[in-house]
Amino acid sequence: MSSIESICCIGAGYVGGPTMAMIAKQCPHIKVHVVDLNQARIDAWNSDELPIYEPGLDEVVREARGRNLTFSTEVDAAIHAADMVFISVNTPTKTFGIGAGRAANLEHIEKCARQIAKVSSGHKIVVEKSTLPVRTAQAVKRILANASTASFDVLSNPEFLAEGTAIQDLLKPDRVLIGGESKEAIASLVDIYASWVPKERILTTNLWSSELSKLTANAFLAQRVSSINAISALCEATGADIDEVARAIGTDSRIGPKFLKASVGFGGSCFQKDILNLVYLCEHFGLNEVADYWNQVVSINDYQKSRFSKQIVRTLFNTVSDKKICMLGWAFKKDTNDTRESAAIYVCRDLLMERARVEVYDPQVSEQQIRADLEYIMRDENGELSSYKQSLIDNVSVVEDPYQAADEAHAIAVMTEWDEFQNLDYSRVHKNMSQPAFVFDGRNILNHKQLAEIGFEVHSIGRTSLSPNT
Ligand code: NAD
Ligand code: UGA
Repeated sequence: MSSIESICCIGAGYVGGPTMAMIAKQCPHIKVHVVDLNQARIDAWNSDELPIYEPGLDEVVREARGRNLTFSTEVDAAIHAADMVFISVNTPTKTFGIGAGRAANLEHIEKCARQIAKVSSGHKIVVEKSTLPVRTAQAVKRILANASTASFDVLSNPEFLAEGTAIQDLLKPDRVLIGGESKEAIASLVDIYASWVPKERILTTNLWSSELSKLTANAFLAQRVSSINAISALCEATGADIDEVARAIGTDSRIGPKFLKASVGFGGSCFQKDILNLVYLCEHFGLNEVADYWNQVVSINDYQKSRFSKQIVRTLFNTVSDKKICMLGWAFKKDTNDTRESAAIYVCRDLLMERARVEVYDPQVSEQQIRADLEYIMRDENGELSSYKQSLIDNVSVVEDPYQAADEAHAIAVMTEWDEFQNLDYSRVHKNMSQPAFVFDGRNILNHKQLAEIGFEVHSIGRTSLSPNT
């Protein structure tokens, strides 16, 4: 087994940044060079304001940066100098051509493989860190085989971290998964992780099992959320309470308590994209029933988001036109500034289409990001944003104070489970709202009984709504 002295990671995003920072922290003897085409992102990694908000990340980066962790846009030089090259670029859902809306767009992966082939010499281990359709390594190997003076081993090492808990997930992973063909290459990567991860938690498999396990893990996790969210609709219709149901089923050790929190719908950059990719793969192999089965997880998620918007409109006397709605939270979950596929974007879009005025407060998401999300979702299939849709977006304001966001609002919609939303002074909030004042708790995090005592009408996910106790 050859011992790795220099690593290059292509892609300085939510995965490349934190994972490489952790490797650099745990392996001070290895030089870790993270590269990206995005100069602004690299500048941020080299500054005190990191491009992503992730609890504990600052400390890890500060410890290793300048010692054995560097960030730059010098992609070719970094590849050339490395013994091991991680590919950690984005693999979004394709928006055009064959498989549009479902297949993964592998353009960035292929470009990386070609660039590695072009600038490499000697022997390198190429590691797929991005989430990829099963059998992508076959294509990567074929492209790399065209290199004139280099040879390669290809490994699959998918990442399982969740945003908001990335540092803890990297520090104490349930497992590290490494798939490959060359025992020696696998051993080199095992050796890196073994610096801090117990050996029994490092699983090795063949390439295809590793690639497929990543998509499958996300599909199973998302399936749990859609399952509990589907039952939440039945709870609302029958008087059962979704949190009680979740506790009752979660104590069965075969089911387990995690990932049973009903919500306004799952978001994030990966669940939907990866399930759609799985669906596309199943269809490709003629497994239409299997494709339909997994597609339903995404359909229930769409249903849950639209159910929430409709409930707001219905409850506010069937019109939100010119009414102010306060949205608390925009990120797809707490403790991250990532907004990709956040339920808030869809609910806000629905409310704007009903001509509501929306005021948003999120502790970590910038106004620029919120506007960009809305402009993206309001575009038509040709990518055009009509002046009418732009005028609806102009009905959104973004503020830095939750009390201001709620001032004179007709309703509050809790979109993200930020801890600070539990500690607001809701008597103060209530006093300054239009009456009757409504709360729609899309995360079931507030004290609903107390809110009803203050005078709110409270609606939540999978629970009976509460009238004000006045
Ligand atoms: P991201 O969009 O945050 O980062 C990807 C980066 O790659 C971008 O900064 C982009 O500029 C860069 N890039 C693209 N092409 C490049 C090229 N040719 N050369 C140099 N840089 C290039 O994406 P992410 O969230 O870090 O996800 C990366 C991969 O990891 C995806 O496949 C995703 O499915 C997977 N993943 C993500 C998470 C997560 O929590 N975000 C968790 C596990 C796995
Ligand atoms: C998820 C997986 O948890 C990671 O293991 C995986 O590496 C990652 O996707 C990926 O491949 O990108 P992430 O999307 O960062 O991580 O966050 P999660 O904690 O899984 O939450 C996803 C969404 O589901 C969030 O919107 C969250 O609010 C929602 N969720 C989660 C619920 O509504 N209820 C739950 O019980 C759990």
